[in-house]
Amino acid sequence: MDTYLQQILETKGVLSKMIGDKAPKVGIVLGSGLGKLADKIEAEMVVPYAKIPNFVRSTAIGHKGNLIFGRLAGKWVCAMQGRFHYYEGYSMRTVTFPIRVMAALGVETLFVSNAAGGLNPGFYVGDLMVIRDHINLLPNPLIGPNLDAFGERFPDMTAPYDQELIAKVGEIAEEAGIRLCKGVYLGNTGPSYETPAEVRFYRAIGADAVGMSTVPEVLVARQCGMRVFGMSVITNVSNTDNDSPVLNDGQDVIVAADAAADKMSLLFSKLIESL
Ligand code: HPA
Repeated sequence: MDTYLQQILETKGVLSKMIGDKAPKVGIVLGSGLGKLADKIEAEMVVPYAKIPNFVRSTAIGHKGNLIFGRLAGKWVCAMQGRFHYYEGYSMRTVTFPIRVMAALGVETLFVSNAAGGLNPGFYVGDLMVIRDHINLLPNPLIGPNLDAFGERFPDMTAPYDQELIAKVGEIAEEAGIRLCKGVYLGNTGPSYETPAEVRFYRAIGADAVGMSTVPEVLVARQCGMRVFGMSVITNVSNTDNDSPVLNDGQDVIVAADAAADKMSLLFSKLIESL
């Protein structure tokens, strides 16, 4: 058996034993500064990544590194409080390993969140953007021998983000009076932020927000047949001008994400309730 598949099954086995019959149907990936949503989960179990076989450490700022099992909005969920990034030096298989484990545990719907830079000139710091599509400028995590047990060699990506959930979140946001943007997320490697020339390029090819994550997890989740919902918190607006006095800074990103976390938590909870 492929060693990667063996590792997935080993990790799944260990976690299954811990959670017994409380198998999650919903998976959540909490990005930079968004770990606060975890406080809304009635946790049955909080497992540090260091205690999970075959999990690596999350070294990124604003990422706590816990896998939380519990109930949110009446559903059994499994939430990653912090994710793994390619820029940390991990392979794409390592970055997406937890998503494979979630699939093996029986997760059917994946909610992904991230902090992102606003490219669309109509976006402001603190805005929430529903991801309606993406552009991938990271290596594809599906490269390599295909794990047939999980899905196809050439998975379709016509609608990576679930259209029904996108429509539903629009109604929920309107009812709650939350301003909601919609757009295309561009995932690149980081860890350096974009130059103004790159910002203009990304805008020109149709991106509305830019970040360093999410797309790998979505590609794997879709290959595994999960429904996916994604949301970006706009934590900074990207510079198009080399003379800009405002510079991008990792700490500012965490502060802005934290400020928007309550709005995002509400939308995620209501969506999960509606499943
Ligand atoms: N660029 C890339 N990643 C990001 C940004 C950005 O401006 N903000 C938060 N994550």
